[in-house]
Amino acid sequence: MKEVKKEKALTFIEPGPIVLVSTFDGKKNNIMTISWTMAIDFAQNIVITTGPWNHSFETILTTKECVVCIPTADMLETAVGIGMISGTEVDKFKKFELTPLAAKYVKAPLIGECLACLECKLVEHIERYGFIVLHVERVVINETSKERRMIHAVGDGTFIIDGETVNLREMMEEKLSPGL
Ligand SMILES: Cc1cc2nc3c(=O)[nH]c(=O)nc-3n(C[C@H](O)[C@H](O)[C@H](O)COP(=O)(O)O)c2cc1C
Repeated sequence: MKEVKKEKALTFIEPGPIVLVSTFDGKKNNIMTISWTMAIDFAQNIVITTGPWNHSFETILTTKECVVCIPTADMLETAVGIGMISGTEVDKFKKFELTPLAAKYVKAPLIGECLACLECKLVEHIERYGFIVLHVERVVINETSKERRMIHAVGDGTFIIDGETVNLREMMEEKLSPGL
């Protein structure tokens, strides 16, 4: 995977794709699926929403880090499968035949099959809403991936796969952050 500018982080988050969040609890790598994500500024801060019913939640609070990876359309069933079982029961990297790759700033692994991975450090946990505020330290992208469409969860068990991309960059020039 090739490193690109950190400013690219929000281009993967703003469209609201479902993400695979990888963690390392000191003994084992793990992954969870998250559909509640949010980009909150141009300074590489993002939010994922989760809570104590997931093993990954405890790991993120303890280790203060994770990797947020973006799966592509061909990984939809894998992403749903990962979100249906707990890492306390199985090794999800093995079960779903995913490749853990070494990250640079965190011990949690990149997921080699994903379109992009954001190495993140915990900034704040806002308990009332289950908000996990993360700062993206590094972004890597998978240049070889032929499938580039992301997946969006509707919330009722149905999913939308990316469609047409419309370019209004010229019209938005004043509002775009440098580096994007
Ligand atoms: C499509 C999908 C989306 C999900 N989105 C979220 C979410 O936004 N927040 C959350 O806490 N759990 C979400 N889950 C559930 C977790 O992924 C699930 O509880 C997972 O098994 C936790 O794994 P762990 O115990 O190994 O951490 C989602 C599951 C699926 C299938």
